Amino acid sequence: MRGIILAGGSGTRLWPLTAATNKSLLPVFDKPMIYYPITNLMLYGIREVLIITNENQVPLFQNLLGNGNQWGIEISYAIQDKPSGIAQAISIGQDFIGSENFALILGDNLIYGPGIGRNLISQLSFPGATMTIYEVANPSEYGVAYLNQKDEVTEIIEKPLDGKSNWAIPGLYFFDCNSIELVKDLKPSPRGELEITELLRTYLRSSKLKTIKLPRGTAWLDLGNPRSLLDASEFIKSLQTRQGLLIGSPEETAWRMGYVGSSTVSIPVNIQNEYSEILKDLRND
Ligand code: TTP
Repeated sequence: MRGIILAGGSGTRLWPLTAATNKSLLPVFDKPMIYYPITNLMLYGIREVLIITNENQVPLFQNLLGNGNQWGIEISYAIQDKPSGIAQAISIGQDFIGSENFALILGDNLIYGPGIGRNLISQLSFPGATMTIYEVANPSEYGVAYLNQKDEVTEIIEKPLDGKSNWAIPGLYFFDCNSIELVKDLKPSPRGELEITELLRTYLRSSKLKTIKLPRGTAWLDLGNPRSLLDASEFIKSLQTRQGLLIGSPEETAWRMGYVGSSTVSIPVNIQNEYSEILKDLRND
């Protein structure tokens, strides 16, 4: 399976933080936001990653992430000229996808918890698409799945106001390569975007959409506005301090997944801080 991270967008809710940089490069406690979705993909066993972002921001990501070899993965880059919708990532990434299945994750999604690595992957169903759902108190801000009494998805609505379902759809989706053709048939929504909910509906209509409920203990954190960004930093700080472990560290994940050996855990030589100390302990394990 391959992985696409969509990290373009305009980041208006975080302006002026996003005036000179990309939202996904902002800090969530001690690391850039994009480390979290990259780590998710690595935990799924994905080693080929495409990052899609705005043209002038590609060099910023390249400076940070390079070609991924330091973590035993391959990172390539593609451009989205303007934020014309999440589903457009599939058209932009079609050569990268080729004939493979792939995960599509948004660059501003932090999903963390037990069972969201290999366990999640073992539940995917191909050919077809899989989405996750997560119970939230404020569904009107998200794409939302409506379930019947048998827990089957009956409808998917973008930002509904009727309060009839609390099952939001996080920015993490799994598709087969048929999605490349299906996206070509999507029409832009009234807000001018190729909506991912519309693509999911296409799979739903042909009974090829699988839905996985994220376990209660999962954290799916919003990173799109200043308050929730600070909350996310506090959350990561509390967990890391309590456990002495890193959350969302590609260096650690590369080591745990066996993509790099203990002696090749990547830490720049001149760095000495809490983050690097935890990584150095891995070298000594
Ligand atoms: P949003 O949070 O919906 O949009 P945004 O990042 O532009 O922020 P704001 O609403 O504050 O203006 O996007 C979710 C994620 O998806 C985010 O990481 C940006 C990314 N995205 C794209 O890269 N391209 C797109 O066309 C869209 C719609 C989103």
